[in-house]
Amino acid sequence: MAARLVVLASGGGSTLQALLDASADASFGARVVAVGADRTGIEALARAERAGVATFTCRTSQYADRDDWDAALAEAVAGYEPNLVISAGFMKLVGKRFLSRFGGRFVNTHPALLPSFPGMHGARDALEHGVKITGCTLFVVDDGIDTGPIIAQRVVPVREDDDESTLHERIKVAEREMLVEYVGRMARQGWTIQGRKVTIS
Ligand code: GRF
Repeated sequence: MAARLVVLASGGGSTLQALLDASADASFGARVVAVGADRTGIEALARAERAGVATFTCRTSQYADRDDWDAALAEAVAGYEPNLVISAGFMKLVGKRFLSRFGGRFVNTHPALLPSFPGMHGARDALEHGVKITGCTLFVVDDGIDTGPIIAQRVVPVREDDDESTLHERIKVAEREMLVEYVGRMARQGWTIQGRKVTIS
């Protein structure tokens, strides 16, 4: 049976779209059962609706504090009984409540080669540092900022004439391919985590 994916997003959802497209083929071994967001009116939610996938929104402003929001997000996600939860451009850090439920099966994609350039602006920070190569990283989320065990990485060369937008768009192409390849492999083959080492088999 196909693994159940819940995808969390905050923006355009091009990464989500890659997973929706991949899910259309049964041999992918996984399908997106729900898309959650921390805001309304975003293209990611529209993409989910067009694909006939359930959506939900958990806004921090709806809850007394961050802890309550975290618990509500965990509850909403749990309702879809996911095997794997994917942060695909989700611009919030989850907390202890979420991680205690989904730790080890919550993954995130980041637009830089971690551990370099963690945080909100991976592409911009790499460009400003003057690196010649950067890329993207898929990792298992832990309680740090982009610090969890690494599942996969892709290299993207920086061009002389790159600005943040051209570089980030090129990284996103690599991110989408990486995510589809590795989510599919995780779904079909399973995975283990020992310390910082993630093994898919
Ligand atoms: C990706 O680069 C992701 O790593 C970053 O935001 C981008 C998501 O884009 N944090 P989209 O919303 O999936 O188009």
